[in-house]
Amino acid sequence: MSATRRKASRKSASPKWRRRERDARPRIVLVGFGRVGGALALGLQAAGWPVSVLPRSADSVRRAATLRVPLADHDALRAADVCVLAVPDGAVPRALELIEEDLGPSTALVHCSGALPLSVFKDAKAKRPFGSFHPLAAVSDARDDLSGHAVALASTDKALGATLWKMALALRLEPLEVPETGRAAYHAGAVLSAGLLVALADAAVSALEEAGLERDAALKALLPLMRSALRGVESRGLERGLTGPVVRGDVGVVQAHLEALPPELGAVYRLLSRRALKLAPTLPPETRAALERLLM
Ligand SMILES: NC(=O)c1ccc[n+]([C@@H]2O[C@H](COP(=O)([O-])OP(=O)(O)OC[C@H]3O[C@@H](n4cnc5c(N)ncnc54)[C@H](OP(=O)(O)O)[C@@H]3O)[C@@H](O)[C@H]2O)c1
Repeated sequence: MSATRRKASRKSASPKWRRRERDARPRIVLVGFGRVGGALALGLQAAGWPVSVLPRSADSVRRAATLRVPLADHDALRAADVCVLAVPDGAVPRALELIEEDLGPSTALVHCSGALPLSVFKDAKAKRPFGSFHPLAAVSDARDDLSGHAVALASTDKALGATLWKMALALRLEPLEVPETGRAAYHAGAVLSAGLLVALADAAVSALEEAGLERDAALKALLPLMRSALRGVESRGLERGLTGPVVRGDVGVVQAHLEALPPELGAVYRLLSRRALKLAPTLPPETRAALERLLM
């Protein structure tokens, strides 16, 4: 067959090809239609994956209908390749109890938590693959776009690992495999970079309040500054992206800051400045020693 004919016959058969390709995609049921459950459902649906959801409250059922995400019925649970529990961490064992009887014998169970170990599934009745799929994103609404973020994957089974990898790529997430033994440290890092960045912003706002500024005005002024610091790190890395008196070796400025801050903010400032000092390897030894004394 000539190349043109082959192309033409493939074109005429394309709906069937597309159907076959779609049928090859794992069937996913999501338990919980909150922020992450919703974002995963909408993202997978947009990527053409067969996905349905099992919300709990009437409100969540209504939200799924408004966003045109199909509800999972008994058959969908039975036929699912992967059942994703997108419920609060503490609700995972209870949600598992409620649905396990209805799952197919080889349906894999996956949670979305960064903190929960895979052993949370140890009481599952059937022997099935377990995994976790933790998007490194602050998801505040089901309609949030996950693409461009990283996702931490873990699984007890090679085939499930490959499916989760495929799911990540379908959602345009960057897969990151995290060994189960490192889970707590990994999650601590994730919390430091997101929730605790907000806590740091709060400390910075309080420092501006010490200077007499209003809280709202302070936050408004600091947000673009924080964004520019992150842009610097993004384009130049941690060491070259660092700015401020520590990296400049301005001992007098650091001293004035510490004198101006109340003890609680001073403690945060000292701790983070000691960390910044590690990112400034080229400071002259006497300047480094003076800063170390001040920041003790
Ligand atoms: N949000 C984030 O930024 C983020 C990022 C990464 C990972 N995660 C992880 O994703 C998971 C879900 O978090 P989320 O932020 O999406 O929470 P969420 O918005 O509060 O949604 C949780 C959903 O779980 C449902 N639910 C609660 N208890 C249930 C139970 N016993 N059985 C069945 N469904 C139950 C709730 O249903 P109703 O509302 O219908 O009652 C709700 O829709 C957590 O493990 C979290 O650690 C969250």
